[in-house]
Amino acid sequence: MTAGKPMRVRGIAFDGGEGIRDVQFSTDGGQTWQAAKLGTELPQETSQLKASTRAGHQAASAWCVMCHSVDYINSQPPMPSAFWHAEVTKMVKVYGAPIPEDQVKLISEYLGTTYGTDQK
Ligand code: HEC
Repeated sequence: MTAGKPMRVRGIAFDGGEGIRDVQFSTDGGQTWQAAKLGTELPQETSQLKASTRAGHQAASAWCVMCHSVDYINSQPPMPSAFWHAEVTKMVKVYGAPIPEDQVKLISEYLGTTYGTDQK
């Protein structure tokens, strides 16, 4: 960032399904706020999930790109399925991802083996 120069700030907003009316942002720690310009396009996804013959690869490709880039997955340290099960459950419970329980299991196994420390 260069002092005194304008800078474009971008982000993604999501909600539980009611719709987003406006987004505000602050550049001074919350003292003043300004309205963001809302668009509906998601940034082009350039990252990909690691290939696998496991069913969870398909499931993850469908479910884990809805809200954020797969970079979120790529940037995690190698972790076992149990970690991923907790992580995917968090996406469902905390962030409202509509992923069925059987898919959560498949995705966790896929991530635990392909990205993690579990036996392939
Ligand atoms: C309903 C939206 C949504 C879906 C679908 C979703 N996530 Fe997330 N995910 C989030 C949000 C919100 C965050 C936190 C964003 C932040 O902190 O910038 C996040 C963060 C993450 C992180 C970073 C670590 C963390 O816990 O914050 C990982 C890893 C992750 N998601 C994995 C997944 C995987 C794997 C899937 C597919 C099973 C998935 N996500 C599907 C909303 C979602």
